[in-house]
Amino acid sequence: MVKKRVLSGIRANDRLHLGNYLGAIQGMFALQEDSDYETFYFVADLHSINVNYDPKKFQENVRHVVLDYLAAGLDPEKSTLFIQSHIPEHVELAYLFSSVMTVARMQHLPTYKEKVKNNPKNVNMALLYYPVLMAADILTYKANAVPVGDDQLPHLEVAREVARKMNEKYGTDFPEPEQFKTEGHYVPSLTGEGKMSKSVPGSFINLTDDLSIIKKKLASSPTDSGKGDKVPEKGGVANLLMLVEIFQGKDKRGEYEKQYTSTGIQYGQLKEDLAKAIYAELKPIQEKRKKLEKDTEYIDKVIEEGGKKAKKIAKKTLKEVKIKMGLV
Ligand code: TRP
Repeated sequence: MVKKRVLSGIRANDRLHLGNYLGAIQGMFALQEDSDYETFYFVADLHSINVNYDPKKFQENVRHVVLDYLAAGLDPEKSTLFIQSHIPEHVELAYLFSSVMTVARMQHLPTYKEKVKNNPKNVNMALLYYPVLMAADILTYKANAVPVGDDQLPHLEVAREVARKMNEKYGTDFPEPEQFKTEGHYVPSLTGEGKMSKSVPGSFINLTDDLSIIKKKLASSPTDSGKGDKVPEKGGVANLLMLVEIFQGKDKRGEYEKQYTSTGIQYGQLKEDLAKAIYAELKPIQEKRKKLEKDTEYIDKVIEEGGKKAKKIAKKTLKEVKIKMGLV
């Protein structure tokens, strides 16, 4: 049977938080155990240089993402883990793919427009190129299934379009990749609105946050007087109760709901207990991470081995494309 290929990347400037861990990452790594799938995960370092960043700290950030991946459950025996820039074939393919996409198409992407709006002084070429490089990340491995959030859907559509156009124009055999939704929790934001998100400051808890940071973050989460006729269905209190349910169970949530309509909730105590419950979940991940941090040799080896596996496939795809495009 042909295995389905799963591929996903995390940018070097994005750290894993509780929201993506419980929402998607856990489910994404569960696929490692499923023999129907072949899994590829990488650090998208080349996708991280279109904003102002500190080159001196860059390697450290790349390393953090590798450690996040491994601590959160990526098993390098079962998945291929690599660093994007170690496989320059991505860049070469991206350039070749750019010949079938128009500038106008790239400029109209909502993700691009938002970045231009937020950072009008730094609208660089790499920003415009972002989705084409992402298409190359995916198509290099002919991945079928891409576990990403809905915010990445416009980019996935570009990858599908690139695949279609390359196949039509040059007779390549790229599959059209699809979003892969893994099972997971909806993890609400600490701001009381929507879900935890890397792009909303104050909304998330990082996987590396210790108990005192978690307490601090929960302390700024909005609440009310703690008492009323009806338990709020939206806002800070509703989100806190959702977190209680995830980390302390349905019964605990039920207790608080009863308190709300009778004696009142003591939010100080609720937050204290919730912080402890969240930390209990993160502690094993953090301990694993600490061990890995010290084992530089092991990490180097994982990256090297993963890179070798990725490179082999990337070379083959690039060659195919060059032949079809008449470049060799
Ligand atoms: N753009 C993705 C993000 O911001 C990261 C990414 C880069 C990616 N290349 C990819 C995700 C390829 C999946 C597949 O989250």
